[in-house]
Amino acid sequence: MASPAVPPMHRDLDFNGPLSDERAARLIHSLGPLKGHHVVDLGCGWAELLLRTLSTEPTATGFGIDLGEENIRHGRVGATARGLADRVELEVGDAGEWRGEPCDVVFNVGATHVWGGDPVTHTGNALTALADLTRSGGRALFGECYWKRPPTEEEITAMAVVPRDQYRSLPDLVDFALSHGFRLYSLSEATVDEWDHFENGNAWSVEDWIRDNPRSPDFEEVIRRTDTHRRLRLHGRDVLGFAYLPLLRA
Ligand SMILES: C[S@@+](CC[C@H](N)C(=O)[O-])C[C@H]1O[C@@H](n2cnc3c(N)ncnc32)[C@H](O)[C@@H]1O
Repeated sequence: MASPAVPPMHRDLDFNGPLSDERAARLIHSLGPLKGHHVVDLGCGWAELLLRTLSTEPTATGFGIDLGEENIRHGRVGATARGLADRVELEVGDAGEWRGEPCDVVFNVGATHVWGGDPVTHTGNALTALADLTRSGGRALFGECYWKRPPTEEEITAMAVVPRDQYRSLPDLVDFALSHGFRLYSLSEATVDEWDHFENGNAWSVEDWIRDNPRSPDFEEVIRRTDTHRRLRLHGRDVLGFAYLPLLRA
């Protein structure tokens, strides 16, 4: 299916993930003093967290990369509107292929899949890349799913697209992160309310498209994808968490 013209998620959402304004501000604070620092966001979406970070420190610079052209277009509009265009570069591209010198701050939030491979390797691939790309004494902000409790067979079957071994418990996720050469600076997890806000905003744009395009050749496929995602959302509600780990590079 060619991409149907579903309205972009940023129509209804500030972040492409379960993140409130308050938590975003706390996460930015957890990055420490940013004077003169360079912040890289791999899989930045429309770069809202990166732009908010740069807005807190006039000497900080940033770079964000995402495969989504519309995401980057919207991010650039936001950068210009906030007077950040001369301090941030937003690029359409494959973050998994991006190479650079180790920098002060690196984000990878909800985007471990950018390095490709089997889903069960995504967390490890991301942490290995973050360790390579964060300078000693720098910080990485890692956002990843975890199991709040072991999922039942029925939940795994109903969620359909999530292999059990893709995620860990929260303590195991933290230990796994630390085994890649980091210290845990702080820990924060998305609430069910943040998830609902994110998933509702995601659903509205698709449901509006479904309402308005009953004769589209993409109609059945969009319905199928949307129903699959709704099952994941509902059967994962009690079991799938999302953690934000501000990490210190040893
Ligand atoms: C769940 S979103 C998270 C976006 C952002 N980090 C945030 O928290 O708002 C995942 C993002 O990864 C991007 N993505 C997927 N594969 C990618 C790749 N190989 N390189 C760059 N971006 C990629 C998608 O376009 C999407 O914007």
